[in-house]
Amino acid sequence: MTDKEKTEEAKQRIAELSQTIHHHNYQYYILDNPSISDYDFDMLLNELIALEKQFPELVLPDSPTQRVGGDIIKQFQQVEHKHQMLSLGNTYSQGDLNEFFSRTENLLQLSNIEYVCELKYDGVAISLIYENGILTQAVTRGNGTIGDEVTANVKTIKSIPLRLQGDYPQELEVRGEIIMPHDSFNALNKEREDIGETKFANPRNAASGSLKLQHSAEVAKRGLDFFLYYVYDDNNAYQNHFQSVMKMKEYGFKITPYIKTCASSTEVFDFISYWDKERENLPFDIDGVVIKVNRYDYQEQLGTTAKNPRWAIAYKFKAERVLTQLLSVDYQVGRTGIVTPVANLEPVFLAGTTVKRATMNNADFIKEMDIHQNDYVYIEKGGEIIPKIVAVEPSMRKENNMPIQFISTCPDCGAALVRNEGEAGYFCPNVNECPPQIKGKLLHFISRKAMNIEGLGEEKINLLYDNGLLKNITDFYKLTYNQLFGLNKTFSSENKETDRSVSFKEKTTENLLLAIEKSKSVEFERVLFALGIRFVGEVSAKKIARHYGSIEKLQQTTIEELLNIDDVGDVVAQSIMSYFADKNNIDIINQLKGFGLQFSCVSNADKMLSDKLEGMTFVVSGTFSSPQRRKDIEEMIEMHGGKNVSSVNKKLSFIVAGDNMGPSKLAKAQQLGIPIISEQDFLTMINLSE
Ligand code: IVH
Repeated sequence: MTDKEKTEEAKQRIAELSQTIHHHNYQYYILDNPSISDYDFDMLLNELIALEKQFPELVLPDSPTQRVGGDIIKQFQQVEHKHQMLSLGNTYSQGDLNEFFSRTENLLQLSNIEYVCELKYDGVAISLIYENGILTQAVTRGNGTIGDEVTANVKTIKSIPLRLQGDYPQELEVRGEIIMPHDSFNALNKEREDIGETKFANPRNAASGSLKLQHSAEVAKRGLDFFLYYVYDDNNAYQNHFQSVMKMKEYGFKITPYIKTCASSTEVFDFISYWDKERENLPFDIDGVVIKVNRYDYQEQLGTTAKNPRWAIAYKFKAERVLTQLLSVDYQVGRTGIVTPVANLEPVFLAGTTVKRATMNNADFIKEMDIHQNDYVYIEKGGEIIPKIVAVEPSMRKENNMPIQFISTCPDCGAALVRNEGEAGYFCPNVNECPPQIKGKLLHFISRKAMNIEGLGEEKINLLYDNGLLKNITDFYKLTYNQLFGLNKTFSSENKETDRSVSFKEKTTENLLLAIEKSKSVEFERVLFALGIRFVGEVSAKKIARHYGSIEKLQQTTIEELLNIDDVGDVVAQSIMSYFADKNNIDIINQLKGFGLQFSCVSNADKMLSDKLEGMTFVVSGTFSSPQRRKDIEEMIEMHGGKNVSSVNKKLSFIVAGDNMGPSKLAKAQQLGIPIISEQDFLTMINLSE
């Protein structure tokens, strides 16, 4: 085939794959009705990614691979909006809203006007431009006239079509809100807390921060969603707002179920009171309801003021807040030593749950709020799991209740707390000996995105720590079967029924040792992340590892060189420099190297742990405690130089047999005299068990 023919073939296949993947995305994200398995979907997407890599000139502007993100945007372009992005007037009571109804009736000289009620999504407004059915521009509100072009980032949001379907117009502008659902928000904040970064205050800030990320591949992981709330009907195709929004469903947008036409103000008030209560069950934040005059000709007649349309208004919910008494303050020390004050409260019912604790953020917060002992405080819930204190009720304060004094020593290890210039809170500097910091580092080390050592959770880590078996991350590689086997502990809870006990039985112990052994092949970038250097997240670890290629090169670096890497700023660079300045850390790295962990970027061939099984072939057969377990055994065979094969023949070295091995395989093996060994025998063979 000539090059030209090859390109032509690739072009056709790319178009075919794009079409199919768009279709499946639509089925999955918009209709919530997938028609192929995740695996098959990934295969299609991988094929497309590979082809586009080979033929970059053939990448379509609406390629589904854009969802995965990739390009780095150095600076966002400023773009002028075709239609100004107005904001809405606010109302806070039935009275205010009745005024809006009468004003509208007066202006239109009508009495029965149809309204559309929608939720007021608490996120970031976005304008989306489609040209010939392709999403070409996504711009934030900015100052209403000019906004930031964040197209590459917006393309990663799965509920925004990259290509329209049906009889779409040549040009289309729609507007809506980009939001971060509670699940994504909580996961993101947990991750940020884990690496010692400041948490986002609420899902709106998190959504807005995500849209401004430089790297769209990062945005793709943020779990953002989109709700459409306005269509520009430049061709006068529709009579009213509701109709046009519904039409967007045919073009491939996800239409929210949270929209209703209302024939009277009573129906509007019913919608408001329904959602004022039900919003606690929504998986995202809303801060009110938006009421719009439905008919376009009426909207036009009403027009706009300088800032707001006269045909729409927001009704803002009062944030649900309750008053309760502060009983005491606990101080929690995190992995990076940050001390977070947490209020213990007189239990109170708020938005569907009983609240007993609330976060108080940091020392500055307590001071600014002027919180005294046993104060009565107002608490509110946002997207977060733990509610926050939003105000104090000084009128209920007893005279001799003193202001809360932030502690000066660590509640866990007694070290004097330190506060860095410009930071809002204190931290415990005793990084190597403070128990919660050690346990936090151990947990971070084994976590999925780091070394991914399965079979250990917080309780088991506590148990091993309490037994003196884990003092730092190097100790994972010193654990032996005899030390672990038989360890157990019951963790009691308030209610006996939820007491949990953890114990190391035969299988748990073996599984853990196998998982630890397997972690020795985890690639350098994840090992670097697992070390738990403050502010070094998953992405920066990857960039740094790939830039230097080995820990030795990184150890010898300078601040200037670090700052040259994308995504590495002052804070990260400083943190890395001080990490390597600590002898204790160098000792940890050297020990880990000695255990065989990966400290340089290597090809797969170099992932070997030993050549113990060199020249041997294995069949792994029968059922094991889990499919993952079987995969682990197969992987270990290869990492020790052995080979996995599928059929039993006379050259086979061993069969590792689980339960219920097939009778024909068994008979054949016996006939050929192939040794059949158990999982236990296999582990002994690679020195993982005694
Ligand atoms: S309509 C010209 N509908 O609220 C009318 N806005 O304060 C444009 N918002 O900037 C707005 N949900 O970001 C409309 N269902 C909804 C909305 C909504 C949230 C936001 C939007 C706007 C702000 C107005």
